[in-house]
Amino acid sequence: MLTFDIVTIFPRMFDGPLSEGVVARAIQRGVVGVRIHDLRDHTTDRHRVVDDVPFGGGPGMVLKPEPLFRAVDAIRAERGEPSAIVPTSPDGRRFSHADAERISRLGHVVILCGRYEGVDERVRLHLATEEISIGDYVLSGGELPAMVIVDAVARIVPGVVGDDQSVAGDTFARGLLDFAQYTRPAEFRGMTVPPVLLSGHHAEIERWRRREALQRTLDRRPDLLEDPAALDAGDRALLEELLERREKGAQ
Ligand code: ADE
Repeated sequence: MLTFDIVTIFPRMFDGPLSEGVVARAIQRGVVGVRIHDLRDHTTDRHRVVDDVPFGGGPGMVLKPEPLFRAVDAIRAERGEPSAIVPTSPDGRRFSHADAERISRLGHVVILCGRYEGVDERVRLHLATEEISIGDYVLSGGELPAMVIVDAVARIVPGVVGDDQSVAGDTFARGLLDFAQYTRPAEFRGMTVPPVLLSGHHAEIERWRRREALQRTLDRRPDLLEDPAALDAGDRALLEELLERREKGAQ
């Protein structure tokens, strides 16, 4: 069982994502546990203040250290030392599928949702074990990133997504973008499906899909092809062919 403890000032933001789809199923099956903690419950003043102005001046507010440390103390007291304590922040290391796989093997992860202009640096220095960003853009807070992390992790915990093959075949698990998918009808408003997919020749379908995935990756994400683990000898030969064809097309 993998448990997430999520500390936030907007607990209700999690109601929808935790009650529908794959994450809800993982929770129902008891393979993933998610507990939401209101940061304000860990303040000690009458007004339940969680932020303050930055020392040295400047715009915005900074999340105070005490409520965050106290929230983690309470989590520790209840269920012991977590495997990871992760503030979300655009300054963090960028989250990838490899991180989702790594986190899926941990037992207990605390996510601290950042807010406002930032979080007191002492949280980063003395409480966090790592810091995660979900991409190079700035969101108004860490709640959506926390949900992204929980979703990406929950769906790869064994037994959550019905067909384990489907998880192993995921784009970033395989290192290539996905091939094009079609479903019925075979013709729709004059738009047809590649005939090979209707042929019943499994080996040919496999070859076509691999070529499609390589072509798409070459066109859209050539950086993924730099990982030698993404390609076997057959792929490398196919890739040579695609590159040659592309060069000829450019001439
Ligand atoms: N908080 C604000 N923007 C963020 C991002 N891109 N990733 C993680 N946390 C954030």
